[in-house]
Amino acid sequence: MFDLVIRGGTVVTASDTIRCDVGIRGGRITALAEHLGPALDQIDATGLFVLPGGIDSHVHIAQPSGDGIVMADDFESGTRSALHGGNTTVLPFCLQQKGQSLREALAGYHALAEGRCLTDVSFHLIVTDPTPAVLGQELPALVEDGYTSLKVFMTYEGLRLRDDEILATLDAARSTGALVMVHCENEDAIRFLIGKHEEEGRLSPLCHATSRPIAAEREATHRALSLAEIVGVPLVIVHVSNREAMEEIARARMRGIRVAGETCPQYLMLTADDLDRDGWEGAKFVCSPPPRDAASQAACWQGLEQGIFDLYSSDHCPFRFDDPQGKLNPKGTRSFRWVPNGIPGVETRLPILFSEGVMKNRIDINRFVALTATNHAKLYGLYPRKGTIAVGSDADLALWNPRERRVVTNDRLHHGADYTPYEGLEVQGWPVMVLLRGQIAMRDGEEFVRPGAGQYLPRQRSPMAGGSPAAG
Ligand code: URP
Ligand code: ZN
Ligand code: ZN
Repeated sequence: MFDLVIRGGTVVTASDTIRCDVGIRGGRITALAEHLGPALDQIDATGLFVLPGGIDSHVHIAQPSGDGIVMADDFESGTRSALHGGNTTVLPFCLQQKGQSLREALAGYHALAEGRCLTDVSFHLIVTDPTPAVLGQELPALVEDGYTSLKVFMTYEGLRLRDDEILATLDAARSTGALVMVHCENEDAIRFLIGKHEEEGRLSPLCHATSRPIAAEREATHRALSLAEIVGVPLVIVHVSNREAMEEIARARMRGIRVAGETCPQYLMLTADDLDRDGWEGAKFVCSPPPRDAASQAACWQGLEQGIFDLYSSDHCPFRFDDPQGKLNPKGTRSFRWVPNGIPGVETRLPILFSEGVMKNRIDINRFVALTATNHAKLYGLYPRKGTIAVGSDADLALWNPRERRVVTNDRLHHGADYTPYEGLEVQGWPVMVLLRGQIAMRDGEEFVRPGAGQYLPRQRSPMAGGSPAAG
């Protein structure tokens, strides 16, 4: 006897689309077949797609952003928003402050997340202070404990690492089997351009985009990949915004470098013109790298279709707009320089790609599953427990109604931000039910789990990074 059977849906994985029932027992999938037997409970999924729950491997939650600015989401609102958008797992970042140990940083984020999450959660580390003790002692032990990925920044005062620090971090990642994600923008070039803009009194939100040009991203992408090549370690290039950075990834692959690429909804749906909206409205779209132009959008779509990108993540990084800690009056000034970088998007990530990608025939639904769940699980050491529909996997499922049309409005979203960059966007297709480890967590917009239902997930080493398994 099953605990639950989902009957009559169209089950989709990264490789197959099959009309079958899904049998669940003890929170796991225990059978896939045409007509499964009796169950304590059942769901009629006729006319619905049954997909693996979304995995968003790039979100920022409750991460301090300098000068006392805090994000608009804590772990409850951030994971609630993720759940309502069809996700069952998110991977937020744990930011190491300078002088802080990684363990101390992790203790802080675990304390914030404990008992609050509505989806499963696992942390990437952000290394800002790569001392010999951090790289030589802490990191190896943390990788063994299941913290198997880390991000380094090439931009942002206070976060960026110099090239020698990046090399040392990559070397430590190589010897421990950690997977490194890189934010590629040339900080010195950006500082130079910000100075020029300020000298000329150009301070509007659009100046965020003009002071972070494609060349700064392309150069840093090339440099990150070259440093990885020198050390002999794989990389993930996150939030890629344009063709030139994509070409660096393609060229690196041709040289034999193992590299995964990630893009985000903002690079498919927004452009720098959005930063130029009337008044200070443009600040709502300030994120880094900035949205570019129509040609860059087309290139990013091509990258999703053709395989330059393995990952489609939200880079959810929510700040309020009209708030003392928000984007409208940063530091009491009207300069782009102080607008907190980042936009909300964890709840709209999947509906946007479903509607603009699958429904408009840019990608097929199997590619959708790969880009939004399976590849995240594989790359970050959660597969096959997460990211697929297979016997033995967690019953993390999202049931999608491909006929449901919605207009995205902030009042129907669940994040802590007071706006969405996608206000007014019409989408077709919406997740009508989400199951987390076999429990109905969300149905028709109603929640059936409490904060704390989400579990923390230690992870295996990434297969891309090689090495023996860590915890999991
Ligand atoms: O502007 C952005 N993307 N903020 C989030 C932090 C990051 O760089 O991913
Ligand atoms: Zn970044
Ligand atoms: Zn980010």
